[in-house]
Amino acid sequence: MLSSWSTVVLVTLSQCSLVASAQIPFLPQSHTEGYKFDALLHLPGISPYFDAIGSGLDHTAPRHCEVTAASYLIRHAAIYANDDDHERYIEPFLKKLNTTYDALSGKRRKGWKGPLSFFAKWENPINDPDNQLEQITPQGIKDSKAVGKHLLSRYPKLVPTTKKIYADKKSRTKDTAAAFVQVFPQKVVVEEILLNRSSFHAQDPHKACNAFTKEPGNEELGQFMSRYTVPIVKRLQKYSPVELEESDIMGLQQLCGYESAINGKKSKICDVFTDDEWMSYEYAWDLKYSHMVGHGNPLSPYLGFPWLNTTSQLMSKFHAPQHEGSVPEVPDDDGQRFFLAFTHREVPPFIATALGLFDSSNSYAEEFPTDRINWSRSWKMAELIPFLGHVGIEKLTCNTVSMDPEDDMEYVRVIANSSPRPIPSCADGPGASCSFDKFTEIIKKGMEIYGDFDGVCEN
Ligand SMILES: *[C@@H]1O[C@H](CO)[C@@H](O)[C@H](O)[C@H]1NC(C)=O
Ligand SMILES: *[C@@H]1O[C@H](CO)[C@@H](O)[C@H](O)[C@H]1NC(C)=O
Ligand SMILES: *[C@@H]1O[C@H](CO)[C@@H](O)[C@H](O)[C@H]1NC(C)=O
Ligand SMILES: *[C@@H]1O[C@H](CO)[C@@H](O)[C@H](O)[C@H]1NC(C)=O
Repeated sequence: MLSSWSTVVLVTLSQCSLVASAQIPFLPQSHTEGYKFDALLHLPGISPYFDAIGSGLDHTAPRHCEVTAASYLIRHAAIYANDDDHERYIEPFLKKLNTTYDALSGKRRKGWKGPLSFFAKWENPINDPDNQLEQITPQGIKDSKAVGKHLLSRYPKLVPTTKKIYADKKSRTKDTAAAFVQVFPQKVVVEEILLNRSSFHAQDPHKACNAFTKEPGNEELGQFMSRYTVPIVKRLQKYSPVELEESDIMGLQQLCGYESAINGKKSKICDVFTDDEWMSYEYAWDLKYSHMVGHGNPLSPYLGFPWLNTTSQLMSKFHAPQHEGSVPEVPDDDGQRFFLAFTHREVPPFIATALGLFDSSNSYAEEFPTDRINWSRSWKMAELIPFLGHVGIEKLTCNTVSMDPEDDMEYVRVIANSSPRPIPSCADGPGASCSFDKFTEIIKKGMEIYGDFDGVCEN
């Protein structure tokens, strides 16, 4: 919980539970105590960063275990808006909004009523699209530092070993990386990773794959949007001086996320919609992302495995038992044990798909009907790709039986937005981690099936 308003929520929640536990001692604290719906937790792709609850496992290393190396892939911080969202949904609404200025004063907008009355004086946060679109916001810089600090506090021994981190050529990944580095105690080089490097397709697979497009899922999203927005238009039309269309509803809902991420406080637009209207919005985008970067796209596992392969190989280098007193036997070792690369929203879902982290089944056609919400799906992208959303792989060294390093056992744990996500096929270690050898075997087998990157990408 890192951004300013989430801190407020946290403080409020913990006060509630303090009061409750003072009155009723010896009861466990409840997650739902004082539960209040928060739209910002249901905006796949565009919400400010928040820690995911995930499966509920503890975020700290399992008992008798220590994290001895970690590698993270992190999405860039908040941007003003993405080009597509702006062009398709947001700008058309803003244009209509612009036609409602009072001719006399030229400052107030006329005709907005009831839940929309704040539009009389609302300031458009995307007022310079030519310079703002796809650029990171000042709040995004603050949030980057907060997530950087969080990782430093989570890995106080590992983070200081980092010498180099990676970004691509986009300013949003570079700016995020630069902000992160500022909170680390040591000097860190941000290296731009070029398309001709073999590691590029681990970090930015969709940009190295000719066959990948962002098109899949648009049709399904459109179908679902045409349904869920109908009652919303009916409900809100009487408060609006301009005719509202389905894409305006989508644009307004997106502005809740973007405006909140730009200003670092919850946008008033978020309160216009009801909880179930937000759940429809969330479902629309989960549906879209499932077809674009999830199981609905046969390319997804091919695009997720390269980073897993690289990371598995990297961790294997450090796998040698750490006998006390003996010289470390890692070839070309510069001592770095914490690795970071900055990327885009597509990549964490590819990795989640490759490992099956958000699976309850693979039959996507069944899972994502376009005429109603699938309430029981586990594919919830709000939990994976807020701004600064991330996946990390931790190597755990555990010893549950003795103090003798000879008895050390090695495991791997996958982290998504701070919380552990067990790999369905391998979760028998401490804290539902996966034994190191089984993990490398899973990745090796995966590469045998999904290793033909250039082939499927038609490169
Ligand atoms: C709204 O109007 C202002 C001032 O007339 C203009 O600068 C701005 O570009 C307009 N915005 C849109 C989205 O049309
Ligand atoms: C990649 O391209 C850059 C310049 O475009 C060049 O300096 C670099 O040597 C190239 N790297 C490889 C591995 O080919
Ligand atoms: C897996 O990663 C290693 C090390 O980065 C690399 O040498 C190997 O070619 C990769 N395997 C495949 C199938 O791409
Ligand atoms: C909902 O999704 C789950 C998988 O997450 C699937 O098993 C189930 O069949 C889906 N239900 C409907 C109504 O599509």
